[in-house]
Amino acid sequence: MSVHKEVKRVTTHILQEMKNRGEKIAMLTAYDYSMAKVVDEGGVDIILVGDSASMVMAGHETTLPITLDQMIYHAASVIRGTTRALVIVDLPFGSYQGNSKEALNSAIRIMKESGAHGVKLEGGIEIAESIERIVAAGIPVMGHLGLTPQSIYKFGTYTVRAKEEAEAEKLKTDIKRIEAAGCFSVVLEKIPALLAKEVSESIQIPTIGIGAGQYCNGQVLVVNDMIGLTKGFTPRFLRQYLDLYNQINGAVQSYVKDVKAGGFPNEKEQY
Ligand code: KIV
Repeated sequence: MSVHKEVKRVTTHILQEMKNRGEKIAMLTAYDYSMAKVVDEGGVDIILVGDSASMVMAGHETTLPITLDQMIYHAASVIRGTTRALVIVDLPFGSYQGNSKEALNSAIRIMKESGAHGVKLEGGIEIAESIERIVAAGIPVMGHLGLTPQSIYKFGTYTVRAKEEAEAEKLKTDIKRIEAAGCFSVVLEKIPALLAKEVSESIQIPTIGIGAGQYCNGQVLVVNDMIGLTKGFTPRFLRQYLDLYNQINGAVQSYVKDVKAGGFPNEKEQY
């Protein structure tokens, strides 16, 4: 008899069934083994190894500096911590915009070297050919529209996107095009809730929102923001479930006090 518990890994097929029956999809980011383990056991359906690692893990101002090698390192650590969630990895800035062959090579490196289950790319019609090529190689692709942080220097700010008619129309065209190219799902970041509703209803594949309101088929947050580890980041869309920055800060202060006072370790804490 096998001693291994049977664990069912979430698949893109299961996510599609969830949309079809109206069940919401829960997604969070993770960047390392320990966080991935606790997030996976908490029951999320998808873990995103986001290029937000560039900001929350490495302290950069934007997502642009993180490299493909660094994403692979984070993704491999996350994979070792999960048994249930589908693990999707961001293709970082500069690893896919050149042409579809470059995009495919980067996606293949992520899949082979980290063991991840799929990749995410930012953009619409301009990357549709790359999506087609990656999907043709058997790699699941998640899209990302609305506020696409790799284009932050083009946008200039992190404010809500597609409020104007022209940008909303482009998003509606883009989402249809990347669905046709083979995306299994698409992240909608910081767009009006009613636009997210309209596009979620206009396509078959699930939409996952961040700052895109309640009508998306699922939600995603950056885990460090959601547990209150990112100090001073309080956008309207963020629900903070813990205040870990202050809790950890308090614990560190207590530890420092104990060490300085000679109160740690005590007799029971030594050999
Ligand atoms: O990099 C990231 O964490 C993301 C999410 C915000 C969707 O792309």
